[in-house]
This record gives sequence, C-alpha cells and structure tokens, in this order.
Amino acid sequence: MGVRPHRKRMELILMVLIGMAWGVLLSALMKRDHWQYRGDQLKEESSPFPSSHRSFRSPAITTTHPHPDILPAHLFNETRVLCMVMTSPKTHQSRAIHIQRTWGTRCNKLIFMSTKADKQLGSIVLNVREGYSNSWPKTRASLEYVYKHYFHKYDWFLKADDDTYVIMENLRAFLYAYSPKTPVLFGDKFQTHVKEGYTSGGSDYVLSKMALHRLINQGFSNSSICTNRNYGYEDVELGRCLTAVGVETGDSRDEDGLSRFIPISPLHWYSQALLYNTTPDNTNDCCSSTAISFHFNNALEFYMLDYVIYKLRTFGINNVQDLLPSKKSISVTKQSLSTFQTKKMELHKNALNKMISEKNETKPKAETKPKPKS
Ligand SMILES: *[C@@H]1O[C@H](CO)[C@@H](O)[C@H](O)[C@H]1NC(C)=O
Ligand SMILES: *[C@@H]1O[C@H](CO)[C@@H](O)[C@H](O)[C@H]1NC(C)=O
Ligand SMILES: *[C@@H]1O[C@H](CO)[C@@H](O)[C@H](O)[C@H]1NC(C)=O
Repeated sequence: MGVRPHRKRMELILMVLIGMAWGVLLSALMKRDHWQYRGDQLKEESSPFPSSHRSFRSPAITTTHPHPDILPAHLFNETRVLCMVMTSPKTHQSRAIHIQRTWGTRCNKLIFMSTKADKQLGSIVLNVREGYSNSWPKTRASLEYVYKHYFHKYDWFLKADDDTYVIMENLRAFLYAYSPKTPVLFGDKFQTHVKEGYTSGGSDYVLSKMALHRLINQGFSNSSICTNRNYGYEDVELGRCLTAVGVETGDSRDEDGLSRFIPISPLHWYSQALLYNTTPDNTNDCCSSTAISFHFNNALEFYMLDYVIYKLRTFGINNVQDLLPSKKSISVTKQSLSTFQTKKMELHKNALNKMISEKNETKPKAETKPKPKS
C-alpha cells in the first residue's frame, strides 16, 4: 500500500520536471525572438539605416523578401522625401508642433513654412500674407525656398497643411514605382480624368523633382506662365501653372480604385458615415488600406494614428511582408480599372464628395479677386 502512492508521487514529480524543462526552453526561445525584435527597433531608433544593411541594392528588392525592418530603412534612402508643412502663427502650437512630434519625424527633411519665427519649429519666415485667398503666394514662396536650399538633396517634395497626417512609409512605397525625373504631381483630388485635372481644393500633394524643377525654371521665371501676383488660391493657380509647364497629375489610387490621399480624416469619415448611413455595416471601410495621407485632423488624431499605425501590434494579424511595386515608366501614371473597380471607386468618391461638401470651402473661380482681408 505504501509503494503505490510513492510511485505516483515520483511520476508526478517527473511530469512537473519535464513541464518545467519545456517552460524554460520555450521562454528562452521567446526571449531570443524578443531580443532580436527589440534589437532592430533600437537600432532603427538611433539610426534608421544600420550599416549592415548597406548591401541592399534596388534591383533585388522587387524579387526578394527582405527583413521587414530593412525595407523601410532602405526606402528611406532610395525615395528621399522633403516634407514642407504649411503652418501659420496661430497654429504653430496647436498643430505644427504635433506634426514635429509624430509623422514629421519620419520625413527625410521636415520644414515648416510660416510668417513668424518659432524656435521650436525652426519655421521659415515668408514675407507673404496668411489666409486661403493668399495661399498661392505663400506656396510659391515656399517652393522657391525649397528649390533654392534643398533641391539637390531630395527626390520628392511633399506639401502638406498642418492638419494633415502622412504615413511616410506608404508614401515612399507608392513613389518607389516612379522616377523622380517624371514631371508628375500626386495628390488628394479625385482622379476623374477630367481635362484640367486640378480640382476640388486639393491641399496635400507630392511633386517629383522634375515637376519642381520645371515649376521654378519654366513657370515661376515667366509671369505669363505662372502668375506672380501677391494673392490667389493655391489650388487654382498651381493647377494652371503645372499644366502650362507640362506636369501631369498622376494616378495615386490603389488597385481597387480607392484614393490614397484622403481629403478628410478617418474620424470625420466614420462620424459622417454613421450620421448619414453611408456605411450601414463595416464592410465599407473609409479608405485605401495603403492610404498615404489624411486631411482635417486635429492634433489628438495625430497621436492616435501614430499609436495605431506604429505601436499597436495585433497578434497574428498584418504580419504580411508587402512587396514594393515594380517600376513604372512615365506613360503609366494613369491606370485602367475594371468595371467593378470603377463602380467601387465611384461609390467611394461620391461618399467622400458628400462628406466634403459638408465641410465646404466654397470653390473659388480662378479669376475672381479675393475679398479684401478683414
Ligand atoms: C542610407 O544612407 C546612409 C547615409 O548615406 C547610409 O549610411 C546607410 O547605410 C544607408 N542605408 C541603407 C539601408 O541603404
Ligand atoms: C513667357 O511665356 C510666354 C508664353 O508662353 C512666351 O510667349 C514668352 O516668350 C515667355 N517669356 C520669356 C522671357 O521666356
Ligand atoms: C457650404 O456650401 C453650401 C452650399 O453649397 C452653403 O449653403 C454653406 O453655407 C457652405 N458652408 C460653409 C461653411 O461655407
């Protein structure tokens, strides 16, 4: 009678020991993964381009699956983007400073265009008036400044308002397909293939190096091509000017025809959608899954998006390594869509249009003189 319980106890102890051994082994393995992960993170934080990654060359990139953390670092060098954020003295502290702390950190170069100096922002002081009706001279002065000081160092020039949030990695991955030598602009107006494609108050856009070069050297140098008057609406004048120097609007929609430069914030989309029942269920997401920018965000949304996009990890989800798009030539800045895609795109476009008209800044006519400044 005394033997049996003893044997049972031995078995139990053995089981416990085996269990512990497994535990130790597993936790060692997990720790190793954990450290590998942390290691890359730390390296990336101190320097986005560890020297061990230097061996990466672009031709291989579309055919291999590099380590997920290497690709963005490689792209950072390959597709250099200068971010030009338009701000104003009134919003330095409420908006611009929060860009400097969130998505702005991921630009190759970040500069703030304003009419007042700000030590924290290092803002560039332009000798122009503020306000939408003076947005053209401000943009023009900004682009001239950028051209003069930074043209040679960067491939693409992003212009964003200080209530815009940009996902820089998605921007670079998208731009990777195009040569900066293509005279092209990608931006947040809808791609409807209308003749003069520059419409609907687009405010976030990226210019290729060639586009900026042409603007400055062919456009701004000749006032009969690009007006140099000291007032005017940016979208109207820039559109006209770009057309005159042969810069085309590229197609930045995704493979489903959805916009990547979104003229509203996700928060705005969903609140409007609930209000007007635009999306009765959640099958109709607000935006492209490879979205590049959102407009009309408040500063809190910058931090929320930063957290959701860069920090939040969902177990077992979204660990797919994306491939870079293959290189495209000048002639393919427009894509053709299937009827299904076109239908989806139209629905999305109409929904967006409806939401934007709620917000509306009335679309100005090119020739009308702005009302005198109050
Ligand atoms: C990126 O460029 C920097 C500076 O030129 C270089 O030190 C680094 O190795 C590069 N990183 C990659 C991933 O190409
Ligand atoms: C400016 O542009 C106009 C219209 O394209 C052209 O006729 C004129 O010769 C140009 N002027 C200069 C100085 O290049
Ligand atoms: C927006 O446009 C509508 C008409 O299109 C107008 O009635 C409304 O006042 C505008 N709203 C703002 C805020 O300008």
